Amino acid sequence: MPERTLAILKPDCVKRNLMGKVLGRIEAAGFRILSLKMVRLTRETAGGFYAVHQERPFFNDLVAFMSSGPCVPIALEKENAVADFRALIGATDPRDAAPGTIRKDFAASKGENIVHGSDSPENGGIEIAYFFAEKEVVEGR
Ligand code: RTP
Ligand code: MG
Repeated sequence: MPERTLAILKPDCVKRNLMGKVLGRIEAAGFRILSLKMVRLTRETAGGFYAVHQERPFFNDLVAFMSSGPCVPIALEKENAVADFRALIGATDPRDAAPGTIRKDFAASKGENIVHGSDSPENGGIEIAYFFAEKEVVEGR
């Protein structure tokens, strides 16, 4: 059974014109793109998305960064999508990320780390629904 995960090309990815490079890696790794769009998150929408981190010391910086410019949520599907996508992007801090991962190759810091990936299949479904209506998620490939 294919699994779903939510990716977000974060504001640093968009601002630095890295969308094409990152999307190319996602497609080459075998993920099907079911939907994507560009959005500008408000502080409220960004804070709601990362609500699990609201007591953490980095929460304010995270919300400020995620609402600092446009970003691109992407609904993805693949066998083992959640774990495979996190392997593709690498560790949260690019200094700890494995060679060849997206964060290792492109991210400037732990805060500005290019891309988000869901951390469980359950959250993948919840996070896709945070950004996309059911009719916007397009199957058939
Ligand atoms: P994400 O949710 O964005 O895919 O990242 P992640 O699972 O690898 O990491 P997570 O622990 O969920 O943290 C969410 C985002 O918060 C920022 N962060 N900054 N300065 C810090 O110590 C710190 N820790 C986390 C990062 O941008 C991280 O991606
Ligand atoms: Mg996370």
